[in-house]
Amino acid sequence: MERIPEPELMEKKDQVISYDEADFSEGEVNLINQINHYLLRKNISLGEKDLIVDLGCGPGNISEKLAIKWANTEVVGIDGSKEMILRAEYNKNISQNKKKLKNLRYICSDIKNIKSTNFLINRDISLLVSNSLIHHITNLEDFFNTIKSLSSNITVNFHKDLKRPLDEKSALELKAQCSTKYNEILTNDYYASLRASYTFKELKKFTSENDLSSLDVFEDGDKYLIVYGNV
Ligand SMILES: C[S@@+](CC[C@H](N)C(=O)[O-])C[C@H]1O[C@@H](n2cnc3c(N)ncnc32)[C@H](O)[C@@H]1O
Repeated sequence: MERIPEPELMEKKDQVISYDEADFSEGEVNLINQINHYLLRKNISLGEKDLIVDLGCGPGNISEKLAIKWANTEVVGIDGSKEMILRAEYNKNISQNKKKLKNLRYICSDIKNIKSTNFLINRDISLLVSNSLIHHITNLEDFFNTIKSLSSNITVNFHKDLKRPLDEKSALELKAQCSTKYNEILTNDYYASLRASYTFKELKKFTSENDLSSLDVFEDGDKYLIVYGNV
């Protein structure tokens, strides 16, 4: 199936609300566990001096879980959509875990302008994470240039995203499954995201042709891809 890009930022209020109200917690907990296992395997333990950055943080679901799991670190969530950042701040404020989220802050910035945001981050990033971001980025160069410019030799990258279905029929089946659980706005967004996603081959080709082979690409089941490692 040909890739059909979708708008990068999720800026419409109804879109943000639909996304925020959906329960993706199973997948989110799964991602935190995957990151944790990877760090344990690499003998890396994160503490006070460490900074975690969550790119395309949306309403903050992953950022909050990172801030609670690695409670002694500083966590920064970045999103280019003002509506999403407002929602993330709101969620942090009303969270039952509010007291545990003092190590979490948000920045509104497009990842393509990240250089001008760098001063807001001001130290080396230990863990650079994203979830469901890569497919929003129209050109893969923009995503990889961003993670390159944010990474130092201590930075562990861990980026999880949807994998593009093989054909339109499979995409429509996934869309139909989604519609049994979620509203029409979210179902349409999910379908657009499936069509905008990259394939394993595309990510692998990009990393090997652009001097990024220290990053690995992994197929996580039949729906997800993970790009991980050091840049
Ligand atoms: C599908 S949501 C994922 C949100 C969150 N990571 C999660 O897993 O719940 C993708 C988010 O990436 C943001 N985004 C897309 N392109 C971006 C860009 N170029 N710069 C910053 N944020 C971007 C969107 O605004 C949206 O909030």
